[in-house]
Amino acid sequence: MQPGFWLGRWERGETGWHQSEVEPALVEYFSTLSPTRVLVPLCGKSLDLLWLASRGHEVWGVELSELAVRSFFSENSLEVSETTRGKFNRFQSGRITILQGDFFDLTSEMLPSLGAVYDRAALIALPPMMRRRYAEHLLTLVQARAEPSFVQLQLVLERTPPDEKGPPFSVSASEMATLYRQKLNITNLGRETLEENPDQKLEECVYRLSL
Ligand SMILES: C[S@@+](CC[C@H](N)C(=O)[O-])C[C@H]1O[C@@H](n2cnc3c(N)ncnc32)[C@H](O)[C@@H]1O
Repeated sequence: MQPGFWLGRWERGETGWHQSEVEPALVEYFSTLSPTRVLVPLCGKSLDLLWLASRGHEVWGVELSELAVRSFFSENSLEVSETTRGKFNRFQSGRITILQGDFFDLTSEMLPSLGAVYDRAALIALPPMMRRRYAEHLLTLVQARAEPSFVQLQLVLERTPPDEKGPPFSVSASEMATLYRQKLNITNLGRETLEENPDQKLEECVYRLSL
């Protein structure tokens, strides 16, 4: 899961995680969120960015792959301006800004105040050690920039019994607690079975994290 892995996936068009529709859980749980600034780590070229912007939010995506970022703007016919900010290329169009670079290089000085974080297929894209690093880094940014009403919508996949396969990796409720409970309150919003066979069950679990 080093940068070369993801850049190769984008170059070869192996982007099975990309959805051609807006994520239903995002619509379900963020439709009532008042316009704010939303950080979307590891955003890919997700259409969720467009949906958030259409709801009046200022969207801050972070994505490693330049190809993904350019595809996002060109496939959605958005005119984009480009600048450089530290280790990042900053692409901006209307309410959407994507910082193209390594999420782990992102500093709080590069971000506005944040009302929300939206994580779909970011945490679960990473193996266990990197998940810890990812959550710690995200919490550092949140602690520096979060507004009092801050909320994080966290989608994960969970396989029962668990395995080490991935990406996407399985993330359990107890791991969510280990990663975030010290700094954020965690509410389980729901879980939906996506697949079930005699050997294993795959569920999508949705969490709300708040200060
Ligand atoms: C599984 S995809 C999910 C993309 C998006 N969240 C979605 O729902 O379509 C994970 C994305 O994270 C990006 N990525 C992986 N490691 C990264 C890092 N360290 N910094 C920024 N982006 C990263 C990959 O290039 C890839 O686009």
